[in-house]
Amino acid sequence: MKYDFNRIIDRRNTRSYKWDQSEKLFGDKDILPLWVADMDFESPPAVKEAILRRVQEGIYGYSVTSDSYKSAIAGWYRRRHDWEIQKEWITDSPGIVTSLSLSVELFSNPGDQVILQSPVYYPFYDVIRMNDRKVASNPLKLEDGHYVMDYDQLEELMSGGAKLMLLCNPHNPGGRVWGREELLRLGELCLRYGVTVISDEIHCDLAMPGHKHIPFASLSEELSDITLTTLAATKTFNLPGLQTSYIVASNPELRRKFEYKLKTLSLHMSAFFAPEAVEAAYNEGGEWLDQLIQHISSNAEYAIGYLAEHLPQVKPMKPEATYLLWMDCRELGLDPEGLKKLMYREAKVAFNEGSVFGTEGQGHLRINLACPRSILAEALERFAQAAAPYVN
Ligand SMILES: Cc1ncc(COP(=O)(O)O)c(C=O)c1O
Repeated sequence: MKYDFNRIIDRRNTRSYKWDQSEKLFGDKDILPLWVADMDFESPPAVKEAILRRVQEGIYGYSVTSDSYKSAIAGWYRRRHDWEIQKEWITDSPGIVTSLSLSVELFSNPGDQVILQSPVYYPFYDVIRMNDRKVASNPLKLEDGHYVMDYDQLEELMSGGAKLMLLCNPHNPGGRVWGREELLRLGELCLRYGVTVISDEIHCDLAMPGHKHIPFASLSEELSDITLTTLAATKTFNLPGLQTSYIVASNPELRRKFEYKLKTLSLHMSAFFAPEAVEAAYNEGGEWLDQLIQHISSNAEYAIGYLAEHLPQVKPMKPEATYLLWMDCRELGLDPEGLKKLMYREAKVAFNEGSVFGTEGQGHLRINLACPRSILAEALERFAQAAAPYVN
């Protein structure tokens, strides 16, 4: 492998949200953090070089987006996802959660029901509730150890008046890569009931070998017309601190409303460093990403194998995408507080506690696999040892 994803990089004292908050959040500075979704790897070398070139300019003035930046985005989706997007469909936004929140505000009214599929990335709840909308939950069903959509209940929500849906594609947590038939069936319902879809596809580039992400809006012109897709290079190439993302919408009306809102909030100015980083990542980061995926997939295999051998009561869900491993820990018989005590006080590890992803997440934990193997191995060992008294 050209890139070494097993090299330990000390991230302490770098103002890292993940590494410098163990004491504040979990009560002990020696807790190993495998929670928030950023990776313990350097971004592709081309990204660092592009940022360094920009640093050397010395004047950090107001800037505009370049045509080459949008070409790099469009080229990436054409090559990696067989999705043709026009450059004018792309609009920058400071972050995906920002885009989700603005979309809820723009495409629904106070008091409206907004659909999500639980368990799901916790800010989905916040952007609905904090905008005074109601969460219309369409819980995922467990079938053969992985999540599937409950179309009957979904249709009830839609026929009952919910007109906006936040789709997580691929899904976090659980790592489902929604298949073509699954998305088409969802799309049919959305078209029938006039539902607008905000499709969060931030994990799209992290499909594991043997799985292929399908952009919801790529399925047909009709579906593209009712969809605003939120995307970023930040998860793929470990750039979340650059705070950059974009939306893709072929429907000019959706785009116009979104752009107007960005302007209203003065969030429309281009970031200084981010476009160069993103352009370099998309143009030159393909090989790095392919190797990253190999590393993540082998970390997932390792974790699943380790748990099967040392803690079989905990059942991980093999991710089809994302670097996040969702584990069913219900056999440990612990409530959310009990799981936190087990992680933070007994095992000295921090995974994500599952109830924040929704009621259906209770009794689950989510491990961030985007770290060197030795860190993952240490965390699993600590966890399995601490969990032993709960299973004997
Ligand atoms: C599904 C999903 N959406 C959005 C985000 C965060 O995006 P941003 O940092 O651009 O707000 C994450 C981060 O983990 C995520 O998993």
